[in-house]
Formats: sequence, structure tokens, C-alpha cells
Amino acid sequence: NTTNCTYSARISLLPHRSIAMKEANNDLAQAYEYQGFWFLKQALRGLIWAQDHFKPHPAATLVASYPKTGTTWLKALAFSIATRNRFDLSSNPLETSISHQCIPFLELEIPRSPSHKYYPDVPLFSTHVPYTCLPDSITGSDCKIVYICRDPTDTFVSWWHFARKRAPEDVEFVPIEEGFQQFAEGYSLYGPYWEHILGYWRASLDRPDQILFLKYEDLVLNTSFYVKKLADFIGSPFSIEEERDGVVERIIDLCSFKHMSGLEVNKSGEHSNGLDHVTLPNSMYFRKAEVGDWKNHLPAKMKEQMDQIMELKLRDSGLAL
Ligand code: A3P
Repeated sequence: NTTNCTYSARISLLPHRSIAMKEANNDLAQAYEYQGFWFLKQALRGLIWAQDHFKPHPAATLVASYPKTGTTWLKALAFSIATRNRFDLSSNPLETSISHQCIPFLELEIPRSPSHKYYPDVPLFSTHVPYTCLPDSITGSDCKIVYICRDPTDTFVSWWHFARKRAPEDVEFVPIEEGFQQFAEGYSLYGPYWEHILGYWRASLDRPDQILFLKYEDLVLNTSFYVKKLADFIGSPFSIEEERDGVVERIIDLCSFKHMSGLEVNKSGEHSNGLDHVTLPNSMYFRKAEVGDWKNHLPAKMKEQMDQIMELKLRDSGLAL
């Protein structure tokens, strides 16, 4: 349609480059630089639409993340917490749909169908868009934001596997070491990664009541503590009776990697992630969920290089990963 064509024409004029793949004429390979970050064309078209038109529900919570940092998990936790009085946990929609089909993406599904919500009375939406690129209608509103980040080298390795599975068979990838160097230089989708993290981190310091900043590794180590914190934050705290009756543990079990990756819908189902013509097997979102899996794919000196870069970039921010 006309709007999309106009956005596409504008986007085509932006600086662009191929990330990780050698195939230049593929929409999944070409990333465009916009407001200091790299986006695939369709996500960027959706983002610009959102910057122009999107109005959040006043009580909405935005689940924000850099790709492969635990989005699927955090969306499942937020959804099951927010809907626990509507659905019995054993018949929660997460038993039959991946969490991406319960909470739409701001830059992917919402622009395609602005009035569509998977669950109309559940004011949750999600995004991979960096904080500084979010529509003013979100950053200037009372909208709450929960953000998750993850060790950068694990994040890269997770993305690398995902991107390879997602790409058409004839697309040639650069070697993983070269892909890692691109990531370390800031050429990554929705990246540079450190800028993505810093945007939400600084905002969380400015507005702690509105922005909750989480780390994947903390959530793995101390799931119960952070699930309760998440429930408090989104305005659905667990009551003493719920805690006594084991509701927190049941939510944790429902959303656990073991349970979710074993569900039939996540073993053999698929969903459209809002990018044109792209349907993805749900199983792609459940790989290993191991902290430190980078060791199986990259040498220790690359991890050190990444840690040094992060230390430098996050210096003076008060944040350590
Ligand atoms: P790995 O590739 O390291 O296994 P995202 O949801 O942002 O796309 O991130 C995907 C990563 O989160 C994958 O990491 C995936 O295995 C992991 N993951 C998915 N579901 C999870 C869950 N319920 N608990 C913990 N990790 C999960």
C-alpha cells in the first residue's frame, strides 16, 4: 500500500550493508542504518509507522529486549502473570501458542494490523526497538517498560544459530568468527548491542518506577525473586494466598525452558513473526538456554575481546554485565 511504499522508498536511501550473510539482494541480509541502529527493512518500516502513528494503551506494559536475550521467556512470564486470573494455568494459551502469538511486536505485527491485539484486554506489547528510537507516544507516556539483556557473547551465539536456521538454504554466511567481529564492531540487527542496553539502562535510572531492567542470567539464577518483582512491577503482585498456594512456582514451571520446549506447539508448530512472507518454526526459539554456551562455539580470546569492549562502552554507566 501507499504508506508502505513511501516508507520503503525512504528506507532505500539510508546507508545499508549486509550483516553476517554474503547474499546482498536478500531482505534478510540487508540492514539499514536509522537513528544510529541497524534494522531489517520490514522492521524499520514498522518502526517508522509506529513513530508516526502508534498510541499506547495508558495502562500498557512494553516487554523490550535485544533479540536472543530471553524475549520468548520474558513474554511468557509477563503474559502468564497478567492473565492468571483469567485462565487457569493448566489451560493458559501458552500451552497451545508460542508467547509471540500472545503478545504482538510494536514494529512487526502492530503496524500490519494496528487495531489487532491477540488478547484485547491484556495490555502487553513487545519490541526489539532501542529505547532512543521508541515513539514519543511511549517514552512520553505512563507506559511501563520491562527490559531484558544477556551476556553479549551468548547473545551473539544464540543469534548466529537462529539466523542460519531462518535464512533460505541458498544464502551463504560469513564464517562465525567474521560474524562475531561484525557484532563486536556494532554491526548487528537492532545494534550496536551496547547502545541498545545503555538506552534502556539510562532510562531505568531516570525513571525506575517505569522501567524495570533485568538480566537473563539473574532470571536463570533467581527466577522466583525476579518473577515476583515482575508481577509487582506490572501491577499484578502475588497475594499471600497465591504465594502459599504455589502460584509463583506454577508460573515458573509453565514458562520454563523444559516445559515450553517440550510442548507440541513449540516442537512442531510455526508462526508468522510479522515480517512479510516469513513463517518460522516455533522450535527455533528454543535451542539450549544455557548460560555460557559461547564456549562451545568461540575461543576464549573472543569472549575476552567482547568483555573488554563492553567494559569500555559501559564504563561510567554503573552497569556491569
Ligand atoms: P539459546 O539460543 O542460547 O539457547 P529470544 O527469545 O530473545 O529469541 O531468545 C532465545 C534464547 O532464549 C535462546 O537461547 C533460547 O533457547 C532461550 N529460551 C527460550 N525459552 C526460554 C525459557 N523458557 N527459559 C530460558 N531460556 C529460554
